[in-house]
Amino acid sequence: MSDSRSTTTARLLPGGPVADQILAEVAGEVRALRAAGVTPSLATVLVGDDDASAGYIRIKQRQAAELGFASPHVHLPASASQADLHGVLADLSADGSVHGVLVQHPVPGHLDYDRALEVLDPDKDVDGMHPVNMGRLALGLPGPLPCTPAGIEALLAYHGVPVAGREVVILGRGATLGRPLAMLLAQKRPTANAAVTVVHTGVADWPRYTRRADILVAAAGVPGIVRPEHVRPGAVVVGGGVRYEGRRLLPDVDESCAEVAGAITPRVGGVGPTTVAMLFRNAVRAARRAAGR
Ligand SMILES: NC(=O)c1ccc[n+]([C@@H]2O[C@H](COP(=O)([O-])OP(=O)(O)OC[C@H]3O[C@@H](n4cnc5c(N)ncnc54)[C@H](OP(=O)(O)O)[C@@H]3O)[C@@H](O)[C@H]2O)c1
Repeated sequence: MSDSRSTTTARLLPGGPVADQILAEVAGEVRALRAAGVTPSLATVLVGDDDASAGYIRIKQRQAAELGFASPHVHLPASASQADLHGVLADLSADGSVHGVLVQHPVPGHLDYDRALEVLDPDKDVDGMHPVNMGRLALGLPGPLPCTPAGIEALLAYHGVPVAGREVVILGRGATLGRPLAMLLAQKRPTANAAVTVVHTGVADWPRYTRRADILVAAAGVPGIVRPEHVRPGAVVVGGGVRYEGRRLLPDVDESCAEVAGAITPRVGGVGPTTVAMLFRNAVRAARRAAGR
């Protein structure tokens, strides 16, 4: 029954089915590796006792086990030093039985996550955030891709949203999302090949750009920053940026954008599931590379 109060017209672009498809492919690749005598292994590293971080690690370990990965876990106390974290990452990098390493972030405030990442073997970096992997992305070389940008490209492709030749505007130039996504969607490939514009706090009149976008990606981490007046009628809106207040998720994209957009990711279950799926895709690809396949 239709709700006469609702003016929502946009088609929803859920990430769940995209993630399911990617994870089914990953599970098949894991089976093939195991059949060849290689057990793909994704190690997880947690520093401290933050409940939310411990919960995220448990979810990923459960999913790793379901997919057939071995998932050794290292738990460092909150008092661990930068050298302790470097030591763990150096050991995991040298361990030939471990193919991928996931460091749960944020790490406690006295630790430098970016500096620690540099100790990790770039080929085991399942987040795709190591400087070497960012460089590979910039150069168009193969390597682990940053998970959220790769997930967004997959989400658009799965839902048949044409990207090639279209104007993509990304609000935010952060290292996790906006910057690598801009590089990815500008690459010369059928599911990318877009005219990409990146706007940020240095562009005071950013709505001038977002209003002309065929595809608008919110990547700012500012709740409700994208409003209907920032969206070209009929455009595709992807909500990547979120902020958490406790357990409450506050997305960048105001829900009322669905009244203007042609298609939009749902408030929950959009970009998130594809990000996690890409983590496992990076992990199984790391195992395949290590096995010379
Ligand atoms: N859904 C997921 O699975 C997932 C995964 C990873 C990240 N994220 C989210 O993605 C978002 C971006 O993360 P990130 O690490 O890439 O970025 P970030 O380092 O937090 O940077 C945010 C960017 O947004 C811009 N920005 C902030 N406020 C703005 C404003 N009022 N007007 C215009 N631009 C503004 C900033 O501009 P300046 O550069 O000028 O400061 C910056 O470029 C975060 O919300 C994060 O939680 C989501």
